[in-house]
Amino acid sequence: MRTQVAIIGAGPAGLLLGALLHRAGIAAVIVEQRSADYVLGRIRAGVLEQTTVDLLEQAGVGERVHAEGLRHDGTELAFGGGLHRIDFQALTGRHVMVYGQTEVTRDLMAARAQAGLPTWYEAEHVAIADYDGAHPLVSFTKDGVRHEIECDFIAGCDGFHGVCRASLPAGAITTYEKVYPFGWLGVLADVPPATEELVYANHPRGFALCSQRSRTRSRYYVQCASDDNAARWSDDAFWDELRRRLPDAVAERVVTGPSLEKSIAPLRSFVAEPMRFGRLFLAGDAAHIVPPTGAKGLNLAASDVGYLAQAMREHYGERSDAGIQAYSQRCLARIWKAERFSWWFTSLMHRFPDTGEFGARIQRAELDYLVGSTAASTALAENYVGLPLA
Ligand code: FAD
Ligand code: DHB
Repeated sequence: MRTQVAIIGAGPAGLLLGALLHRAGIAAVIVEQRSADYVLGRIRAGVLEQTTVDLLEQAGVGERVHAEGLRHDGTELAFGGGLHRIDFQALTGRHVMVYGQTEVTRDLMAARAQAGLPTWYEAEHVAIADYDGAHPLVSFTKDGVRHEIECDFIAGCDGFHGVCRASLPAGAITTYEKVYPFGWLGVLADVPPATEELVYANHPRGFALCSQRSRTRSRYYVQCASDDNAARWSDDAFWDELRRRLPDAVAERVVTGPSLEKSIAPLRSFVAEPMRFGRLFLAGDAAHIVPPTGAKGLNLAASDVGYLAQAMREHYGERSDAGIQAYSQRCLARIWKAERFSWWFTSLMHRFPDTGEFGARIQRAELDYLVGSTAASTALAENYVGLPLA
């Protein structure tokens, strides 16, 4: 096979890149190690920045997010038994859209299938070669048959555990990492959300988050130990723990029901630099991880491929490699802002096993300052809603 861009990974980064390239008349093939159903079954992010929605529109899949997505003009912070609203729209003129990663993936998959674009699911032994030479090559096995794709560029959109970053020589890459001493236990349930907007709660028993997917589907999280096991949690135990961590006014409005999904995600900050190696580009979780508190993971994956699609358009359309040269630097400027915000918001909202009561009182002082100061609230709102692509 021969194509212009070989994309490894059919998560949101790979699928969105494929759609943006197709719109620009650039040929791409996607190679994914899992099945399409497996990819759709992963319940992950739920909050889209306006910039991400703009990119979905550019990719030709903006219709359903506008029809079914829930526009949120603010969010609630819960602490000390009370609720404090951060008004994104008043403070920044921007908002976010609540629309699940599963739906983003479904829309992109449907558009790709409809356009007849090539995607190889359940590809085994995926490998990349000669990405720093003139003839990059992707190889894989499908149903026992080996395939090769010759290409101009390789996009490593294969997530944190993918093959692209792992194939780089140790000296080529610098990584920065922080692992948090807790995880998030998440539950998805077909019950109406307790609140109109999301609630981020700081509580002595640990962090809790009320989120949603629609008017009839809720997503809730509670902070748990890193070594906890989701199977240990009955639905009742989860609902009880969630309600204990919410202000009474919210807790009494939580509608409980059987969980559709229950899983634990570890919390990590991670950045790999640079993000380009000759003709190989890393994008999304392949290059960076944020703890989920700031809702940035999926949005960063989208902005990376927004920059990459732009670089490819310039390369093929304008014969300019300026975008390719600038790719890593442009992405990393945005990534480190999101890393800082996600680290800060995580630090503010969770119970840390080693900082004790002093840590809790410092958090309380900072939360009081945050909701009492327009400048501090604006900084939170600006970071949460995100910036347009520079
Ligand atoms: P991924 O979605 O990981 O996609 C990568 C794809 O590459 C996968 O389909 C994978 O199967 C494939 N792949 C891997 N290795 C290979 C290979 N060798 N060959 C071919 N294909 C390969 N963000 C939030 O904002 N809020 C959240 O609540 C939230 N929860 C999360 C929970 C979990 C458990 C995880 C892991 C992440 C969560 N995130 C969350 C982050 C967000 O979901 C990710 O940032 C987003 O999925 C990144 O998209 P991506 O396309 O870069 O990577
Ligand atoms: C969701 C996840 C997040 O990490 C977040 O900050 C907000 C919402 C969610 O899954 O809905």
